[in-house]
Amino acid sequence: MSKEYKRYLITSALPYANGPVHIGHLAGVYIPSDIYTRYLRLRGRDVIHICGSDEHGVPITIKAKKEGITPQQVVDRYHAIIKKSFADLGISFDIYSRTTSPVHTVTASEFFRKLYDEGKFIERTSEQYYDEEAQSFLADRYIVGTCPRCGNERAYGDQCEACGATLSPDELINPHSAISGSPLVKRETKHWYLPLNDYEPFLRKWILEGHRDWKSNVYGQCKSWLDGGLQPRAVSRDLDWGIPVPVEGAEGKVLYVWFDAPIGYISATKELTPDWEKYWKSDDTKLVHFIGKDNIVFHCIVFPSMLQAHGGYILPDNVPSNEFLNLEGDKISTSRNWAIWLHEYLEEFPGKEDVLRYVLCANAPETKDNDFTWKDYQARNNNELVAVLGNFVNRALVLTHKYFGGKAPACGELNDYDRATIAELSQIKESLENNIEGYRFREALKDAMLFARIGNKYLADTEPWKLIKTDAERVATILNIALQITADIAIACEPFMPFTAAKILKMLNIDHFNWEQLGRTDLIPAGHEIGEAVLLFEKIDDDVVQRQLDKLDAIRAANMAAEVKAAPQKEECSFDDFGKMDIRVSTILAAEKVAKTKKLLKLTIDTGIDHRTIVSGIAEHYAPEQLVGQQVLVLVNLAPKEVKGILSQGMILMAEDASGKLRLLQPDEHTNSGAVVG
Ligand code: 2FM
Ligand code: ZN
Repeated sequence: MSKEYKRYLITSALPYANGPVHIGHLAGVYIPSDIYTRYLRLRGRDVIHICGSDEHGVPITIKAKKEGITPQQVVDRYHAIIKKSFADLGISFDIYSRTTSPVHTVTASEFFRKLYDEGKFIERTSEQYYDEEAQSFLADRYIVGTCPRCGNERAYGDQCEACGATLSPDELINPHSAISGSPLVKRETKHWYLPLNDYEPFLRKWILEGHRDWKSNVYGQCKSWLDGGLQPRAVSRDLDWGIPVPVEGAEGKVLYVWFDAPIGYISATKELTPDWEKYWKSDDTKLVHFIGKDNIVFHCIVFPSMLQAHGGYILPDNVPSNEFLNLEGDKISTSRNWAIWLHEYLEEFPGKEDVLRYVLCANAPETKDNDFTWKDYQARNNNELVAVLGNFVNRALVLTHKYFGGKAPACGELNDYDRATIAELSQIKESLENNIEGYRFREALKDAMLFARIGNKYLADTEPWKLIKTDAERVATILNIALQITADIAIACEPFMPFTAAKILKMLNIDHFNWEQLGRTDLIPAGHEIGEAVLLFEKIDDDVVQRQLDKLDAIRAANMAAEVKAAPQKEECSFDDFGKMDIRVSTILAAEKVAKTKKLLKLTIDTGIDHRTIVSGIAEHYAPEQLVGQQVLVLVNLAPKEVKGILSQGMILMAEDASGKLRLLQPDEHTNSGAVVG
């Protein structure tokens, strides 16, 4: 038996305010949490949905440095963008706060201080890497060096992306700062640690025994963390951005972002209501954290240990966490701009908020990573939203206007088919509820769409447009039922597509339904005047999708170009060194392969000074016949050298790209042989 709760406290992971929100965030966290919360509200439950911007942490300071602005300016910018884009997509938080708010600073400081005063932390001094130029200790991510496993020179202090190895900064060869590029020194620093190992027995009992009901990805991750053994975790950092550690002698130290961020849920609730303790401190509140899979350890292991250490707070009943959404086959990445940004989508697709909500829910990575493609977006819009949902509602409304002057006709005698249809409708509600309450939102959305599918089938089978000539009374019954189904759709769709639900209500000329009315067929009384029929969805054409694909192609190309790294600059040379080189425009007179070699060509060159022979390693890049007549640049005073028995007198200048491809360097117009280059 599941427990009866009096109220619900729903939290959504606080997004970092160092960039806008993208479709991966939405599909993973905010669409599911909004569906869940809207559903509970529609059921009349006491529910609050908490979120806000996560505004501390190293990435924000890095972004600020890069852009030459302050961290506060960074978070102000993104907090505003994120907050507005969530609201515009209809994500209905009861509060969207931020962790730079004064209430949060006080709440997080007091939380730390209580644990500190009660001796719940361990103090440890250790040596950590320090960047003397930037005058700061560096987070692992900002230490780069050579990977001891594969030799990749750009490995991070926590991971090598080339070979996938998990690393610690101490393992890197030649570690240096990713911020200033300078080498690092070791310095002693003191930090406070939460001894997670002390909480292991409590966590084992609470999760491994008590929460076998959690999603298998969540349970599995917790189990492997616990089986691996927990270690003390530092809850402070050396950084100049964050909440100062509220302890004497802790200058320059702030609370670790993962210590303060989850407390942000509590602070935001305080900001929302003076009754906040009712939500956080009563056993009859159901606390649910919606998060992405990279947040599991923090919400299932670290934060619960913090709450346990503090005492007085409830623990989450569930932590529904999704896997990741990819975009067109590639991992979404903020740094590579490989994403569909919510604020951009809203600008480019006005009025299509629900299309995105629908597609992201239908395709949510609930049990495994999933892929968003524009083709799928188009197909779901055209084949499901337009052809099924929009089509049915439109037909019900238009036919009611056409045959009954916009007044809901009365329901006459039901036949067996009507009764079977009505019975089907009443069955969907239970499945829909079970799926939402079990955090299976994809299945739940299918249930909601069933109302429209049944409605379409009902109209197609009963064909009121044919019957109207002979049996208007029967058509009245059919359209009455069709209008009831339309009302059911308005209720069932509200959690998933609130804009559409509101449009349907308006068309039906009804202010409000509640969830308990779902599945019933007495929602629109006979004689009720309905509103104007408007189209709910419109077809999305190929060119719209193509434009988006072109945009992504351009990003892919730019990323590839950026990934090609130039070779490092050579040692400095003096003006005199350079002046010694005699480079001339020359013309290739003849070219032939050097026998028994793959790479070499023997070229006869007119240097303007003389005709001479040069052996050049370009046979894999140019065929001899391509070269004859070409002008090239030749270093003519290079000491002659014998190659394969041929005396080579000079060097043809060429560019070699990162892939090793060679290209000739040529004057951009025909120039006389012998012209001096310099
Ligand atoms: O992963 C993230 O985006 C974090 N900013 C989530 C924080 S959730 C909570 F604990 F605040
Ligand atoms: Zn490596």
